This record gives sequence, C-alpha cells and structure tokens, in this order.
Amino acid sequence: MEFLRSRILPLLSLLASFLLLYIRTSSKPSNSLCSLLPHDEYWILSKRIVTPEGVTSGAVEVKGGTIVSVVEGVQAGELPQGNVVDYGDAVVMPGLVDVHAHLDEPGKEEWEGFSSGTKAAAAGGITTLIDMPLNSVPSTVSEETLRLKVDAAQQKIYVDVGFWGGLVPENAFNKTALEGLLNAGVLGLKSFMCPSGINDFPMTDKNHIKEGLQTLAKYKRPLLVHAELQLDPDSSIELNDGLENPQSYMTYLKTRPTSMEEAAIKELLDVAEDTKLGGTAEGAHLHVVHLSDAQTSLDLIKEAKSRGASLTVETCPHYLAFSAEEIQDGDTRYKCAPPIRDAANKEKLWKALNEEHIDMLSSDHSPSAPELKLLNEGDFLRAWGGISSLQFVLPATWSYGRRYGITLNQLASWWSERPAKLAGQDLKGAIVSGNHADIVVWEPDAEFELDENHYVHHKHRNISAYMGKRLSGKVLATYQNSKKAFPGTVAGCRNHCDKAL
Ligand SMILES: *[C@@H]1O[C@H](CO)[C@@H](O)[C@H](O)[C@H]1NC(C)=O
Ligand SMILES: *[C@@H]1O[C@H](CO)[C@@H](O)[C@H](O)[C@H]1NC(C)=O
Ligand SMILES: [Zn+2]
Repeated sequence: MEFLRSRILPLLSLLASFLLLYIRTSSKPSNSLCSLLPHDEYWILSKRIVTPEGVTSGAVEVKGGTIVSVVEGVQAGELPQGNVVDYGDAVVMPGLVDVHAHLDEPGKEEWEGFSSGTKAAAAGGITTLIDMPLNSVPSTVSEETLRLKVDAAQQKIYVDVGFWGGLVPENAFNKTALEGLLNAGVLGLKSFMCPSGINDFPMTDKNHIKEGLQTLAKYKRPLLVHAELQLDPDSSIELNDGLENPQSYMTYLKTRPTSMEEAAIKELLDVAEDTKLGGTAEGAHLHVVHLSDAQTSLDLIKEAKSRGASLTVETCPHYLAFSAEEIQDGDTRYKCAPPIRDAANKEKLWKALNEEHIDMLSSDHSPSAPELKLLNEGDFLRAWGGISSLQFVLPATWSYGRRYGITLNQLASWWSERPAKLAGQDLKGAIVSGNHADIVVWEPDAEFELDENHYVHHKHRNISAYMGKRLSGKVLATYQNSKKAFPGTVAGCRNHCDKAL
C-alpha cells in the first residue's frame, strides 16, 4: 500500500538534536491513481517558472521529493519521455506557505478540521500550513495539548502542517512550561493583546510578551501577536443601547477603530527593542499578524524596523480585496478583527505591500459553525468574527492585486519565501535546488465564478465572503514532496488523469 506523505512539521533541519517531533504521517491512503507519482524522478515543464532570480522557461527537476535543479531553456523532447509533465505557459511557482490558519481540530471539527482544511489548502496551491493554537478545544498552550493536536492530525493531512503554540498568562512566566512546549515542536508562539473570544486563551500584556520573548530568543523562534488593545471601555460608544443598528457594518467598524491597533503596536514597540542585536531578547522575533490599519499603525512598524527591531508584519487577502463601503448591512460573512476598513485604507495596504513595508500575506482562515455567523439576523455585534478563505487566497490575491501591477515574483515572496522564513522552514518557499518539491501550477488568466457549482473543500462554503465573486487564477496542480496533492487526492482524478505522470 502506498501512502501520501505529508509531514507534521517541524522539519528539523536546524534543531534535529532536541526536537521530538518528526512525524512522517501516512495520510489517508488514496484510491486515486493520480495522487501518487509513479516516478521517483520527474520534470515539471513550463514557460513561466518563478524562481528567486525571476521568471524563466524550462523544467524543474524533482527527485525523491526534492528539487534537484531548474534546467533553463530545456524542451520536452530533450527529457526522458514519460517522466515529464508539460504545463505550457501555466505558472509554476513555489507552493504557498500559510502561516495563519485555524483548523479547529480537535474539539471543533464541526467548524473545520485537518482533513477538510488541508484538502482546501492543496486545492488552493498551499503546500504548507501552520495551524493557530486557538479555536480548537483545548487551545495549544502546553506540551500536552500539542500532543492532542498532533494526534488529531495523524492520517488526515494532505499538505505539510506545523503548529504555533499559545503564549498565555499561565505559561508566560513559567520557563519550564514554555520550554516544554517549544521542545515538543511548536514553531513559535502566538498571543493576543485583546480578549481572543476563547476562554482558555486569555490575553497577554506587555510584561507577558517581554518575558515570553526571552525564552523564544533561546530557540530563535518568533512570537506572533494579535495587535489590538482594548481602549478604555468607558470611552467607547455604547453600542448595545439600541441606538446603533447592529446590522450596519459601520456600527461594527466603530467598535474596533484604528486606535486599537495603534495602541497595541505602540506597546509592542517597547518590547521590540529587546529583539535588536545586543538586546536582551536577541534571536527572538516579533510578527504582527493581520494588520488592517495602513496608517499610523504601519508607520509605527516602519519606525521600529528602521531602528533595528526584529519585526515583520502580515496582512490578509480580505483586507486587500474588500472595503467597508461595499459590505452590505447584515452580511456578517465579512466580520473579522481587526475589521476590514475603508477603500482608502485598502489602497494604502496595497501600496505598503508593493513598497515592502508589509512583509507577507496569510489567510487567517477562521471559520465557524454557520449558525454562529448569524446570517439570518445579520447582527454584526453578536456574530462570530472570522473570514473563511483558505482555498481562495491565491486567486484572490492575484485577482485584486493585478490592478496594482503585482508580479509573480512578488506573489512568491509574500506567499512563500517570507512566510517559510518566519516559520523556520529553510527548505521551503522557493524553487531552488535542494528545496522540497512544494510546487503550485496555476493559470493566471483562467477566470471562474465562485458559485454553487464550484467545488469548495473547506467546510461551510456559504460563510465565505468570497462566494459569489468572480476570480482569476485557477490552480491546475499542487505538488508536494513526492506526491501530487491536487488534483487527485481531492475532487477525484477522472478529469485530470491525462495530466498525471
Ligand atoms: C510550570 O509549568 C510546569 C509544567 O507545566 C508545571 O509542572 C509547574 O507546576 C508550573 N509552575 C508553576 C509555578 O506554575
Ligand atoms: C448555500 O448557498 C447556496 C446559494 O445561495 C444555496 O443554494 C444553498 O442551499 C446554501 N447551502 C447551505 C448549506 O445553506
Ligand atoms: Zn487568526
């Protein structure tokens, strides 16, 4: 029996001596003939291969799940027949590395799960996904709870999966606990500067973060921070007094002003000083997740970077695709935190990405049971926040970004190279010899409608804000290590077997 071989990260190139986790899982054995490549060595041919040096025509040579070389200018006829897949002028790019996804298992499988989530990832061109420590039950905040995650993922994953652990008040000052969690294999930690909405994932303050960074420095792993700070509750407008319409998106927007992001980032900047060369937490790294405010918050981040802090920032496709003005009353599919802001802010986010002030993108795929979105009531204040998007992030980034002139190399940098670096995955994120053969093949000009007929692998298709949109950029195939993760393991391979090796 052959098995798919997705792995649970970390892949241990650096830390092999003491990390315990190197599990090569056997994913569900597939009946599909196309999912497993019959040849150990094969060539992926295309006129548009995206390498760090630029876009080139030729072939990517893969052997034993590793990229052996990128052969420029080579033609199909010059390679061993039968071991070549010719994609013509479709784009061959490094698989996406999504450093921010909530798969919610164990405990909330009805929201998402390793199987549905990683199938959606494969279908969307994502070859590595790092799972967030909250929204599953229990949250991943200790060695024991990480074990539950790993157990839950066994036999279910279609792409490589790694885990972030949680930095919470309970473990922040307990070095034994934090080191236990890091030794057990989390790739870094995540914390919230405001209530997370999850009971066993309380918020941290500046002191917790400062302390956590000391331990992370030793492991050279990052701290990811949800940077919103609750302002003085008395000064915020009274929203539940019936004066404001809870179905209006503007009402929700007012509850999470840009000043919340600003205040959090201001506090973070103090601690960020410690991550500088020679600082008390040198080696640790701070990463601001899902930035929405492209003004003062971003300026503060730029300033800290220029002063030498080890700091990066991500934003998500929904902040780049949508704007507050277009969100209809009651359409809670768009509720997330920090919120999607106005069109002028969206323009500034694109500018910041293009100018490399925002380092990378992530999905923040954050689904829930459909009932919790309160789609019938349309109550923005009570609905669960989180946008479901995993399968669509590549076409979404491309469709909305091409108006701003984004390039294939920028996509590869935002979605693969820099996220791989953040997660410490040195052998991922770029098509270069020696790296894992994690590859997405896609057709930038192919358009499709996200309608009822479109196959969506993540759970609860109707809660996704992307449903009903027309996007361009169709994923043709996803290769991962020595297997073809899509199509074949998903959607059935009947239509695609001609493309299989
Ligand atoms: C610190 O964490 C360890 C491991 O979880 C635990 O055994 C210990 O009781 C904790 N110490 C304190 C002071 O809470
Ligand atoms: C999802 O939306 C489609 C189109 O509006 C509808 O036909 C379908 O019944 C919905 N499915 C669920 C489970 O609500
Ligand atoms: Zn999130």
